[in-house]
Amino acid sequence: MKGFSVLASGRGSNFQALIDAMKTGALPARCLRLITDNPQAYAIERAKKAGIPVSILEFPAYPDRTAYEIALLREMQATGADLFVLAGYMRILGQGIMDAFPHRILNIHPALLPSFPGLHAQRQALEHGVRVSGCSVHLVDSGTDTGPIVLQRCVRVEENDTEETLAARILTEEHRILPEAVRLFLEGRIEVRGRRVILR
Ligand code: GRF
Repeated sequence: MKGFSVLASGRGSNFQALIDAMKTGALPARCLRLITDNPQAYAIERAKKAGIPVSILEFPAYPDRTAYEIALLREMQATGADLFVLAGYMRILGQGIMDAFPHRILNIHPALLPSFPGLHAQRQALEHGVRVSGCSVHLVDSGTDTGPIVLQRCVRVEENDTEETLAARILTEEHRILPEAVRLFLEGRIEVRGRRVILR
């Protein structure tokens, strides 16, 4: 069975969606390790409960960014994963990591890319006044949320939405498309042609 590792910095509800999908059989895969930069991340509790090993790499423990990136790269390689999933990982990955895992890292973003990349995507969508928003799973490249898009799901933006209510509605869809994208990837059904992803 193919394996993936997860990088997460916080609450880890998308990580939990992956764990749940493995339990039901919807995602026939193994989660090899959770890697986090945040020792307080609730994702750690979720990993422990599911019996998934955890590595904590705290950025301030390293002399500089390069040292951190090298340690993270080694940790990622050591998991032996076919795929890495960024599930609320709040750091930009360096070029060394991109080069080591070309088209082997997925990210989940709470907007319909290429709209509203970066932080506070739900707030950006509300402030812009869009009528629909949603979420995207994409392959990671060296830009911020710019890589080839694998799956997207739309949600309506209601006139009385706050950042929190919109985020919650989007999150429900995130929990559906992330396990689906991981499954497609691990089944070898994702082909990248330039910017486009062809699903087989
Ligand atoms: C999600 O909204 C995800 O799209 C974004 O960060 C948030 C992580 O939430 N990248 P959680 O930690 O998975 O609950």
